[in-house]
Amino acid sequence: MKGKLTTASGAPLDGDQNSITASGYALLQDVHLTEKLSHFNRERIPERVVHAKGTGAHGYFEVTNDLSKYTRAAFLSEVGKKTDIFVRFSIVNTERGGPDADRDPRGFSVKFYTEEGNYDIVANNTPVFFIRDAIKFPDFIHSQKRNPKSNLHDYDMYWDFLSLTPESIHQVTILFTDRGTPKNYRHMDGFGTNTFMWYNEKNEYVWIKYTFKSDQGNETLTADEATVLKGKESDHATIDLFKAIDEGNYPTWTVYVQIMTPEQAEDYQFDPFDATKVWYHEDFPLIPLGKIVLNRNPENYFDEVEQSAFAPSNMVPGIGASPDPLLQARMFAYTDTQRYRLGPNFQQLPINSPKGLNVYQRDALMSLGIVGSEPNYYPNSVPDSPAPDPSYAPPAPRINDEAKRHQKPVEDIDFVQPRALYNRVLSDEDKDHLIANIAGHLGGAREDLQYRQTALFYKVDEDYGTRVAESLALDVNKVIELAMASDEERKKITMKM
Ligand code: HEM
Repeated sequence: MKGKLTTASGAPLDGDQNSITASGYALLQDVHLTEKLSHFNRERIPERVVHAKGTGAHGYFEVTNDLSKYTRAAFLSEVGKKTDIFVRFSIVNTERGGPDADRDPRGFSVKFYTEEGNYDIVANNTPVFFIRDAIKFPDFIHSQKRNPKSNLHDYDMYWDFLSLTPESIHQVTILFTDRGTPKNYRHMDGFGTNTFMWYNEKNEYVWIKYTFKSDQGNETLTADEATVLKGKESDHATIDLFKAIDEGNYPTWTVYVQIMTPEQAEDYQFDPFDATKVWYHEDFPLIPLGKIVLNRNPENYFDEVEQSAFAPSNMVPGIGASPDPLLQARMFAYTDTQRYRLGPNFQQLPINSPKGLNVYQRDALMSLGIVGSEPNYYPNSVPDSPAPDPSYAPPAPRINDEAKRHQKPVEDIDFVQPRALYNRVLSDEDKDHLIANIAGHLGGAREDLQYRQTALFYKVDEDYGTRVAESLALDVNKVIELAMASDEERKKITMKM
């Protein structure tokens, strides 16, 4: 920025360090003073209701493997094709000024500025989620954030909700390993978690899941290391990403997909649209797709990172939704909150604006003048005016079902994957950390909640439940009794404790 300092209406200013006063009284005619104070008063916008603290960077995505037989997405059409991207990393429950090293999932959102519109993969650093029906999301987040009376984090709220939501056990187990405290954003993998549809020119479709593997390695912090960092360098992950890119040390990720045909989906041992489950790699191997490279820091944090708006509903031809109920609701929630957080024209902001925007929506607060003027209705008789193209119609899976609140009770199969994680994936050291991390956190909750939750760990695996019980000095026999009880009985018994 060069040249003369001006008022907000562009007139050159004579001074900026002294208000216009007479005998100490400030005069209303000092428009620069009132303008400066009032703009400042309006600087903050609502923080994101989740994922409030984050950092971002620009870069590109390059296709390294041709999977165009599965998807007509233009940006995936050939090896070597590059697409500009913007990535935002975040931490879920921590507020905008909080520490980067809290135990919490991390967000990994990627916006691809493709020639057929913006495509967003709004991913996390864990492959599964706490719930599989979005109707539970506001309650879940309330329980993880601050108590409405004390404004403090509340172990009772946290474990009360989770212990009554046993489908969370897979994600809770991952969160309380050291993967709940990633080393920083560069050394962190990403997962689309939800299942998406890919379809080709012939409208043949498959179901897919995304994985981003950090080429820097997936590294974590121990609980002690995280505690030290929170005190010493609470923005450590933000600093790490910014510095690395500033120094030309560009982080990269390899992007993979898992592909499942509709026929395989019918027979798979797990519900492929349940966000609390993974698809085993031995059943559906990771197939390389491309590379994410981050090579440019934002010029203005607010304009580019704070105002960035990612949404799972931002899809391009060749990519569609699946019957994953969590995804279905996410397709609504993000743009809804963005209309509140950023205003109705948030898609016109430079960081969110797609190439080739052609809509008939007009006006509303803060329209930036990039959607043209007339015609503002459709159909119209104006030559060459924008018109829909039926050749983009996606596949239309046939549905035959009752429209009702379908029950999804927690069953034995919900414990199979966390059991495999505990027994087949975690090392002895990982298990030691898991037990200590749980005890350190759950130990802050009421004893009845400790029992109720530990019974769920026991249902995953005897050794897991017994070790947590012993670390919390709980009666293992009582834990076993609760583990054998139904969810309803377990709730009743623990409520009387
Ligand atoms: C019921 C399920 C979910 C709901 C209703 C939901 C809702 C939201 C909302 C309202 C935001 C704030 C968006 C904004 O202000 O711009 C958000 C942010 C985010 N969510 Fe979700 N979410 C859900 C599940 C998930 C899952 C399963 C993932 C990842 C796999 C995820 C990843 C993210 C990320 C990465 C952000 C931050 C986006 C950014 O960087 O701006 N969410 N979510």
